[in-house]
Amino acid sequence: MHIHQNISLKPYNTFGIDVKAKHFVSVESLNDLKSVLSLTEHPKKLILGGGSNILLTKDFDGLVIINKIKGIEVISEDENFVFVKSNAGENWHDFVLWCIHNNFGGIENLSLIPGNVGTAPIQNIGAYGVELKDVFESCEAISIDSKKLHKFTKSDCQFGYRNSIFKQHAKGKFIITNVTFKLTKSNHKLNINYGTIASELENRGINEPSIADISDAVIRIRNSKLPDPKEIGNSGSFFKNPVIPKKQFNALSKNFKDIPSYPVSEENVKVPAGWLIEKSGFKGKTFGNYGVHKKQALVLVNYGGACGSDIVNLSKLIQKTIKRLFGITIEAEVNII
Ligand code: FAD
Ligand code: EPU
Repeated sequence: MHIHQNISLKPYNTFGIDVKAKHFVSVESLNDLKSVLSLTEHPKKLILGGGSNILLTKDFDGLVIINKIKGIEVISEDENFVFVKSNAGENWHDFVLWCIHNNFGGIENLSLIPGNVGTAPIQNIGAYGVELKDVFESCEAISIDSKKLHKFTKSDCQFGYRNSIFKQHAKGKFIITNVTFKLTKSNHKLNINYGTIASELENRGINEPSIADISDAVIRIRNSKLPDPKEIGNSGSFFKNPVIPKKQFNALSKNFKDIPSYPVSEENVKVPAGWLIEKSGFKGKTFGNYGVHKKQALVLVNYGGACGSDIVNLSKLIQKTIKRLFGITIEAEVNII
């Protein structure tokens, strides 16, 4: 374990923003992590996984810690279920593929989401009708202050839409070190009703899909609209989809007849921010070397060489425009650092 100085973070964030870390270290074991947390000469620390949900706006004048703590193990199983524990530094999609290879069901709809396993609980990653909380059993996290390990059960985590305790009052206080999942070994609960999964399977003549078929369908759908960060810098959806009162939605739909919505509760509906951004005229717009993706308006992109502040300013312009046109506040999903 070696602490490097003045390292460019460009390869460590999928937006491809070129800022520097004053100090930089990769940790490959829990002991490494504990030692690094004890370094009093580095009081300011930033933990990163895959860097796929951050927007870096300036050089970081502390210690950036890259989590590379690997390892997956089956903890227990019976005929129907298996409990799998993965260390935080495993790549999420590789973990999904490992589960599919072993016929462990539950996370196939979450295929191809970038980032690490240990970061997945932070915003309760979700896609195509499944959220992390649906398969989450528990996680362990080390307290940055006491260096002690704490266990968090599902209810401790207070999961919500792109939300958990780690984005609320536990924010910045813990580093997740491993996650335990409860997955199915038989009678997999298949989710094919979301979006175009069913039609994607039908087009390929698949009537009785396996979890691998669902994963393939999700991968194809995602590849058709989301930019690959290896080609175009981005952090996925820049904003969360706003949840608004039904009353406000009904008033809006008088002026905007095609405004889509998804049910949330008796009182509220979710409106796709991508639709609001497209309707505001931003979809596909470029501003020099950054802009709004042409196939998915919720994704802001860096075509190369943009600064974090350029993207922040664009996000503010979009937020202001949507507030003016629709009276709706949209919040960033990406962590702006
Ligand atoms: P990072 O960006 O490295 O970190 C995110 C935040 O968590 C930072 O504040 C960091 O300091 C903190 N952090 C990192 N590791 C730890 C740790 N071990 N303990 C405590 N804090 C930590 N998300 C979805 O939910 N659904 C999607 O469908 C989806 N699609 C995406 C598509 C693309 C193309 C991209 C680029 C992103 C997408 N995302 C999606 C967002 C992103 O992949 C997820 O939020 C992912 O979980 C982030 O993981 P990461 O390891 O890259 O996090
Ligand atoms: N839409 C538009 N124009 C666009 C994009 C979307 O009108 O340019 C409207 C359409 O009505 C479309 C609807 O928005 O039917 C939903 O679009 P999509 O299925 O692409 O999903 P999303 O709401 O834009 C969310 C997540 C994604 C996740 C997908 C699939 C959020 C903030 N985003 O996107 O997650 O992959 O659903 O489940 O909830 C991420 O969090 O980074 C992310 C990519």
